[in-house]
Amino acid sequence: MEETNKNVLGDCFTSAMSLTESGVPHVPTRYILPPSQRPVLSPSIGTGSINLPVIDLSFLHDPLLRPSVIHEIEMACKEFGFFQVTNHGISSSVMRDALDAATRFFDLPSHEKMLLVSDDVHTPVRYGTSINHATDSVHYWRDFIKHYSHPPSKWIDLWPSNPPCYKKKVGKYSEATHVLHKQLMEAISESLGLEKSYLQEEIEEGSQVMAVNCYPACPQPGIALGMPPHSDFSSLTILLQSSQGLQIKDKNNNWICVPYIEGALIVQLGDQVEVMSNGIYRSVVHRVTVNKDVNRLSFASLHSLPMNKKISPAPQLVNEDKPAAYGDFSFNDFLEYISRNDLTKQRFMDTVKKNKF
Ligand code: OGA
Ligand code: NI
Repeated sequence: MEETNKNVLGDCFTSAMSLTESGVPHVPTRYILPPSQRPVLSPSIGTGSINLPVIDLSFLHDPLLRPSVIHEIEMACKEFGFFQVTNHGISSSVMRDALDAATRFFDLPSHEKMLLVSDDVHTPVRYGTSINHATDSVHYWRDFIKHYSHPPSKWIDLWPSNPPCYKKKVGKYSEATHVLHKQLMEAISESLGLEKSYLQEEIEEGSQVMAVNCYPACPQPGIALGMPPHSDFSSLTILLQSSQGLQIKDKNNNWICVPYIEGALIVQLGDQVEVMSNGIYRSVVHRVTVNKDVNRLSFASLHSLPMNKKISPAPQLVNEDKPAAYGDFSFNDFLEYISRNDLTKQRFMDTVKKNKF
């Protein structure tokens, strides 16, 4: 039996978690994707021979060896807009604690989580399911809690107070990702031939949205997805996953499974870096598959310039031969766009590109 709740708007809300817990043998019809959008789950098809980049960040702090790390980052950004990092400075206990707090949150009874439910994309802390349960034409097998995270003092009081450990554990992880993201943005600016300090102040004062995702075990993983293909609006997204499930699209439009690497973090380029680099780097299109056996958790930390600060192509990367290929946009512009449009129908980036074709 499906557990249902009323949300603030009075329409029907059913979390993916409650469906899994009730033991449904099939996904409800609204989760069934058209055949052309279904994932191919066999790892041997289209994914066999590609090694995705894994970059050891320990040498980033060594002036002699830094250039070789920057070069690896440049190659990964050009080829995939994606890489995994090891020796990134965030301890495994901080990552484990964050995953533990998320597990406890999603295990709470529905009525507790529903205290934070909202389908308004402007709400700074909100619980939800799918992408937007109120408007999605196809639903996705995912529950989430999303919250603004930087600066912590401004937002932490609004975060879930249950489980009691949530603020402390997620707060520590969130602050650590903010530091890592600054280091990565310096490296990425350098890799583009810009000053290491390019946009330093805006990056320091930038916004951070933590999307904590829960993809419960799904009875029919071949016909549903946890998230549809999309790119993130952010400059960078730092992703912590509890098990495999993410896929990225390569230059040949093949989906590649991202392997789970113990202790590693995933770095994905978002739309803001695509614009800033004037298209030298591209944001990575990715989606999330689900599986029959385990609940998968992830923390997607989306870092961007401050809410109303527009990003535009770096003037140093624009010239007569390479005119600006993008207009500018802010995080707020993105929120306005998604509150009115279905991202699975048209990419936000298509509205930012100058030569639309
Ligand atoms: C996201 C996202 C990937 C994942 O939250 O934007 O792409 O593996 N998450 O959960
Ligand atoms: Ni994403």
